[in-house]
Amino acid sequence: MNFTTIIEPFRIHSVEPLAILSEAARREAIRDSHYNLFDLPSRLVTIDLLTDSGTGAMSRDQWAALQHGDESYAGSPSWEIFRNAVSELFPYKHLIPTHQGRAAERILFSLLGGPDKIIPSNTHFDTTRANIEFTGAQAIDLVIAEGKDTQSNHPFKGNIDLDALRSLLQGSGPGTVPVVMLTVTNNSGGGQPVSLANIRSTKEICQQFGVPLFLDACRFAENAWFIRSREAGQQDRTVVDIVREMASYADGMTMSAKKDPMGNIGGWLAVNDDDLAEQARSMLILTEGFPTYGGLAGRDLEAIAVGLREAVNHDYLNYRITSTKYLGEALASAGIPVVQPIGGHAVYLDARALLPHIPPLEFPGQAAAVALYEIGGVRGCEIGSVMFGRQPDGSERPAALELVRLAIPRRTYTQSHIDYVIEVGEELVRRAPALVGYRITNGATTLRHFTAQFQPITD
Ligand code: F0G
Repeated sequence: MNFTTIIEPFRIHSVEPLAILSEAARREAIRDSHYNLFDLPSRLVTIDLLTDSGTGAMSRDQWAALQHGDESYAGSPSWEIFRNAVSELFPYKHLIPTHQGRAAERILFSLLGGPDKIIPSNTHFDTTRANIEFTGAQAIDLVIAEGKDTQSNHPFKGNIDLDALRSLLQGSGPGTVPVVMLTVTNNSGGGQPVSLANIRSTKEICQQFGVPLFLDACRFAENAWFIRSREAGQQDRTVVDIVREMASYADGMTMSAKKDPMGNIGGWLAVNDDDLAEQARSMLILTEGFPTYGGLAGRDLEAIAVGLREAVNHDYLNYRITSTKYLGEALASAGIPVVQPIGGHAVYLDARALLPHIPPLEFPGQAAAVALYEIGGVRGCEIGSVMFGRQPDGSERPAALELVRLAIPRRTYTQSHIDYVIEVGEELVRRAPALVGYRITNGATTLRHFTAQFQPITD
């Protein structure tokens, strides 16, 4: 019997109350937060889909592992447990723990970046791009054309454009490209996977030009599950086996343990190169901590070690990917255009298509995100002209897409929560023609989406 209900492959062990507010109270709360969802206290949010980062539920075994945390400054057994768990999946020679992903990025790009350097990727995540640009280097996105088309159903829309990569490497002088990155899955491109074949071919091109390949592997398990489900010849393999093959093509990785590894905090940098590792460890000691704990407590290392094993469980991954798809498909049937196919960790709503009467520079994504909160206390995140519209010279240019990301924390919400989000989405469609745009009344110049203040345009 093939059942259609997606059951959560766990039962609830500890509960946390949710805020159920009236619509009037929510309207007041969002007005007091100047219509910025980042400014909204989480105690006023019913379903929080702002991010899947560090917001997942830890398992019974992870909480138990916390009690084993050994907080010795050097050589803690928790470090050995962490190192063993990471190297089962990613057997790189050197492992350097950090407090989160961006700390690993800062260390790597401080060592490899610098003016005149170019660092390509399928698509750099914002903190990766920011850390590269901070060193004076240029960050370039080379995702395939289908990856930029919200309605293309290509199974691996996270793939890097191999021809574009080859021409970039051919056209740049020796040493100009110190590393090629691949983000798996491609978060900024809609949580879309990269195929094994694409990772392998990227490696071959990198080898030809003597350039190392690094993975930004935050959502490695979801990526491997997509490979297992969609790539020819991969259906009988285990996810662990696929992850090891993905890892085998790279020379190192940056990682946020707040995503697939089910940590509330944590990350790492792993490399094969001895010299690079030595320099990275020196930098780590300057700002993160001793090399056997990085910026983490021993108990965090223990929780991540357990989380890594849970992240590759097939029943869990099947539930994770199927339930995200369930939300995306239901919202699409309700009349909200969504980025296709549905990615691993989030559903991306196309606010420009939903609200064609709101011009891009009146922020349709912000209008849709605020409305989702007002209607049902659902918090998502605008990824559009609020985030990317401001140019370095202070002018405004519409972003390529006006999206709202609904990111799904791991193991946190049940199907009834998701059914509720779908109902909120249905109401959003009904209210869409009457929604108005927003203007920014006070905005920081960089990363303004975190702090900007807005006002609805009602005149
Ligand atoms: N790389 C990718 C692909 C990410 O999605 C993130 C974080 C990072 C690196 C940085 O890791 O947060 O541990 O420093 N993404 C979060 C998000 C913030 O909401 O998508 P971090």
